[in-house]
Amino acid sequence: MARRNSFAISIAAAALMAPALTYAKQAPAADAEARAAATVEQMSADEKVVLTHGIMALPFVPGTVIPADGLPGAGYIAGIARLGIPALTETDASLGVSWVGGARADGATPLPSGLSQAASWNPDILYKGGAMIGSEARAKGFNVLLAGGANLTRDPRNGRTFEYLSEDPLLTGILVGSAIKGVQSNHIISTIKHFALNGQETGRKFVNSVISEAAARESDLLAFQIGIEQGQPGSVMCSYNLVNGAHGCDSDWLLNQVLKRDWRYKGFVMSDWGAVPSIASALHGLDQQSGEQLDAKVFFAKDLQTKAAIDPAYAAKLADMNIRILSQIFKYHLDTNPAKPGTAIDFAANGAVAREAAEQGIVLLHNQNGALPLAASARRISVIGGYANSGVMSGAGSSQAQLPGGPSITIPLGGDGPFAALMQIQYHASSPLKAIKALNPGAQVIYRDGTTIADAVALAKKSDVAIVFATKWSTEGLDAADFSLPNGQDALIAAVAEANPNTIVVLETGNPVAMPWLAKTAAVLEAWYPGGQGGEAIANVLFGKVNPSGRLPITFPASADQLPRPAVDGYNDLEPNFTGDPPTPDAKLNADYNIEGSDVGYRWFARKQQKALFPFGFGLSYTTFASSGLKVSGLNASFTVKNTGSRQGATVGQVYLVSRAGEAKQRLVGFARVDLQPGASQVVKVTFDPRILADWKDGGWSLPAGDYAFALGDDAEHLGTPVTFHMVARRWKD
Ligand code: GLC
Repeated sequence: MARRNSFAISIAAAALMAPALTYAKQAPAADAEARAAATVEQMSADEKVVLTHGIMALPFVPGTVIPADGLPGAGYIAGIARLGIPALTETDASLGVSWVGGARADGATPLPSGLSQAASWNPDILYKGGAMIGSEARAKGFNVLLAGGANLTRDPRNGRTFEYLSEDPLLTGILVGSAIKGVQSNHIISTIKHFALNGQETGRKFVNSVISEAAARESDLLAFQIGIEQGQPGSVMCSYNLVNGAHGCDSDWLLNQVLKRDWRYKGFVMSDWGAVPSIASALHGLDQQSGEQLDAKVFFAKDLQTKAAIDPAYAAKLADMNIRILSQIFKYHLDTNPAKPGTAIDFAANGAVAREAAEQGIVLLHNQNGALPLAASARRISVIGGYANSGVMSGAGSSQAQLPGGPSITIPLGGDGPFAALMQIQYHASSPLKAIKALNPGAQVIYRDGTTIADAVALAKKSDVAIVFATKWSTEGLDAADFSLPNGQDALIAAVAEANPNTIVVLETGNPVAMPWLAKTAAVLEAWYPGGQGGEAIANVLFGKVNPSGRLPITFPASADQLPRPAVDGYNDLEPNFTGDPPTPDAKLNADYNIEGSDVGYRWFARKQQKALFPFGFGLSYTTFASSGLKVSGLNASFTVKNTGSRQGATVGQVYLVSRAGEAKQRLVGFARVDLQPGASQVVKVTFDPRILADWKDGGWSLPAGDYAFALGDDAEHLGTPVTFHMVARRWKD
């Protein structure tokens, strides 16, 4: 039942948002599985430990040799030519084919950040983005894309927040499922990652996420469950961190019980790179050891073969491991439709996909007296800071993609170890200044780098409008200390706004940020890390060529004191190191997620009755909208959205549960993006996934009887009058 409903919600929502999506045909799973089982029967003992392990195919670890049929990229798993099984050539990641420090010296099309894509609340944008980056991966010869970052943004200071989608399981699950479908429409395998509860980068290889089963099932795990149902990823990448004392890649509970038994997942579990604690992980549900040079040992080769020869439990597991890997190779045609390196890439068309995603992801947070869109009459425009003359900020780590020609700016941060090459602040070569000038050729547009406040103020005073670009770098491996903008940008913005009340701030950040200068400014756009055409996207929104429609997929706190944890666990105690390795073998670090449980983000703010700086779901437009007429009957709801303004625009209708059987409880239960001409209205229909309404109890879902109150929301804080529906008690298993 639950599966049908979650499927229904995505169809209902998708149908409202875009023309019917067409997905690539794939071999029926059952045939692929049968063929896989038959193939394993033919395997020799040596062949049975070929697909179960592989290398990081990069020169970061001395002595690494990339085989002839491999490619410099995240990973390589040998094939079995005798049986027609191709090697697996693996690249990162969710935002495009990663640059890997220029190891291949070939560029790709960087999508905007995960948060930016999610701010569109549009599964079609995620699908098109996934299809595009998957096509580039395939064109370069990769047949596995390590995409599908689906961890909830449980701590908004997490260094990888920019890679992820949202704080809500429904929004995350539906969007990541669409992205995965898009990737796999190219006859390549996508992952979904990092399974599970990988909530911080500080001590990421030994931090222990402590959480009750119920809270996990109702939040982080539900995001993965919906994403796997919707996207059918060929592989799940397990996580570095521990969950309740067991490593993600060694957790019998997560991998064998939840994923493979309860969710009936038929794909394979690959480890994260250097995340395999022992050979016993095979018995605990791990199917493939990735980046084996980074582990203490290559467990899943000869050692596994030896174990399987003497221990029936390992022998049975080894057969299943191979069946799972092979079934996905066959299901997505990696053998019959192989990726061919050197295939032509249409970077212009792909750039347009990235630009559309960035445009739909930009969130208009503040707009006093119609300061935006910029009037064509603005003759003297000052553009200040953020390297806006050169490019837009991009997030660092394994997910970083760069345009052909590479980054426009690189600021090395030094450091040592295998990933030092990734520790660089880099900008995509897409200049907002150039795009602004192109849209307003008659204006005098002057740029100042913002490093000297007095210089910026002097320019601002002589301008009709001052646009300050503010950036905050974020990276895999490091979390943020706080929400402040670095390098004196807060002071710069305050001074410029003091000098010119018509000051517009464009934020390029990987996480929510504080805005002490907000009241002094005329307008604020959150452009996130806007990707390979981010400069053009920002200019199109500034000048109103595009009406901003982004809605926050993550809460912007008014202060860190509002969060479940005052700081990221371990942040103030540990020496930051990119790899997240423990300082000593016996080091312990707990992240107590039972504080908030499944009330992540806006749910926590509602429970604590706190007001955010900007709430989940918030975003302004150059027009206005009204939602009304909410009707709920069982799991079905409908409401009307009207464009009450004077220009075309898109918004996101949001339906929240606000109380259940008399107890206050806020959960997003439905959403749909609608695009309307002025004066037009549309009836939106959504179907609730009952798991969002339910509790996880005694091994299944439990919907208590009682009156459920639902409300339309412009965002998680601005809610309409609730309507109630009486639900009868129900219990069911996954
Ligand atoms: C990294 C990341 C993972 C990535 C993998 C391969 O450490 O955690 O997201 O796909 O290794 O680069």
